[in-house]
Parts: sequence; structure tokens; C-alpha cells
Amino acid sequence: MPTQSQSPYLPFGENKTAPWYGKDILSVKQFTRDDLGYVFGVAHEMRGMVERVGTFDLLKGKILANLFYEPSTRTSSSFTAAMERLGGSVIPISEVKYSSVSKGESLPDTIRTLECYADVIVLRHPETGSAAIAAKAAKKPVINAGDGVGEHPTQALLDTFTIFEELGEGQIDGMTVTMLGDLKYGRTVHSLARLLSLYNVKINYVSPEILRMPQEVMDEVAAKGIPQAEYSTLAEVLPQTDVLYVTRVQKERFENPEDYEMVKGAYVIDPEIMKAAKQEMIVMHPLPRVGEISPEFDDDPRAAYFRQMEYGLYVRMALLAMVLGKA
Ligand code: CP
Repeated sequence: MPTQSQSPYLPFGENKTAPWYGKDILSVKQFTRDDLGYVFGVAHEMRGMVERVGTFDLLKGKILANLFYEPSTRTSSSFTAAMERLGGSVIPISEVKYSSVSKGESLPDTIRTLECYADVIVLRHPETGSAAIAAKAAKKPVINAGDGVGEHPTQALLDTFTIFEELGEGQIDGMTVTMLGDLKYGRTVHSLARLLSLYNVKINYVSPEILRMPQEVMDEVAAKGIPQAEYSTLAEVLPQTDVLYVTRVQKERFENPEDYEMVKGAYVIDPEIMKAAKQEMIVMHPLPRVGEISPEFDDDPRAAYFRQMEYGLYVRMALLAMVLGKA
């Protein structure tokens, strides 16, 4: 790992001995606290480079295949922007119905095809475990951009980077993070709870009864000695909260539409509710939002969800550089 005074970039060639060279990024379970320090150090430098020069040629000649079987605005476009800001190019496949997937091609065969043309593959897919299946078929690195209700590791990395950049890395230990909304189907909170368990945080879960955090995730977090508590109302925990992480109720994952109707709109963050919160805290959301945060709150300095999207660009630039041996 480079020291802080060294540049993490390699101007010429690939460093095949770099720790993340050629690796898949499938789960936050792959990362240690030291790894995160390294990723965020590179992401912070990427931020500086984008602010200073906009685009540079670190990944010139490299190609990313951006393969999305599910809708996406942020993840898909930020990976595209990340590759292009690093001087590389992108094969975009976001309408799989226009690809050979619509003729019945299997995921492993699609992956084997794309790696003939690309150096790295980003995959979003509706089935949990699909990223691992893709990685098994591929010789090139596969990055999980969301697999069903499983994980969304790059989102959790950018979420944690957001907390560091907004509140200060040195402040993370001792923080209270409150996750609100659809904790059952929201893959971003599954990944984030696991990742935050590397730090000495307290995690609160606030959700309707039918959308509680899965026991499997809570057990993994508990095994790290992290205090966790479940609530049904936000008022009980808002005044102590340093990071409020709001999620959308994921309509598309409900088997019974009546259940969705029962819980949609269960929590709405607005300026009135936020009077009970600290002044030095942030509100995050992976977005898209569909009513969980009132637009009237958007101008509050604590509303970090639009800045959070921008941090995603820098983290994804860092990850692409790492797996391609340039950081
Ligand atoms: N946060 C997130 O994953 O957004 P998209 O679905 O737009 O990619």
C-alpha cells in the first residue's frame, strides 16, 4: 500500500502485483478496514484530479462492458463517466432486450462474449448470486452493480466515502447510523450494514414490521460486536442520529401488491420532522426517491443525497483503476 506522500497511480503499464489487480468486486465482505482506507485515499485523489483537470488518461485504451439487466440511472452512468474520465471507453448494454439475451443466451455465455471485447465487466442483474456466477465464467474482473436483493457493494463503498468526506474520517468511530424504510429488499442497506461493521458504530434499523433487516445480515453485524437495535418509529432515535440513511420501498420486489400499498409512505422526511435532528448530521439516500424525502428538505445543508451521487463517481474511478492495475 502506498504511503500518503506517494502517488497511488502508475504512469506506465499495469502493476500486476497490485493487491486488487484482476480481482472481482462482488461483496463488501472482501474489504478490510485497511482496504477501505486505500480505496478512499485513491477516490479522494480522483476527486482532486477531476476538479483540477476533468479527464485524464490513466485507463487510456481500456474498455468497460456495462451490462445492466435492471434499470439504473446513477450506477450505470457513473461507471460510464468514471471510465471516460479516466480516458477509457465503454460498451453500454442497458437494454438487454436488444441483445442476444432476448434470444435466450445464458448469463455465463454473455459474460464470455463481453470479455472478448472488454477489460472489465460491470453487471447489474435481478437475481441474487448472479455476479458470482458471472465472475466464475469470466477471466476478466467482474464488478457487482447490484444482484437482486443481495448486495450492492460499490454503493456501500460510496456511501461510506460520503460519510468520511462529509463528517470526517476521524469521526466515524462512535457514530450512530440510522437506516430507515425498506430494509428487507434494499440491497444497499444490506451491504452498508456489513461494511460499517468494520467501524465502532451503532446501527439503528427503523422499518415497518414486514420490511425488517434480514436476520442473516443482523447476525453478521452482531458477530463483529456492533450494537444494533430495531424500531418502528423514527422519533425514538432521530435526536441521537449522525447519519440518517433513507431508502425507497422497493415496489418491484413485492410478491403481494397489497403489502406494498400498506407500507408505502410509511416514513417521509421533511423540514418539520428534521427539527428534532442534530444540526451536525447528514441525510443520505441511494436514490431514486419516490416520496420518502420531501423536496422541501433538499436545500437543507444536512441533505447529502445529491452530493452522495458525485462521491460515487470518484469511488468508481478508484475501483476501475485498482482492478486494472493502475492504482
Ligand atoms: N443508487 C442506485 O443504485 O441508483 P440506480 O438504480 O439509479 O443505479
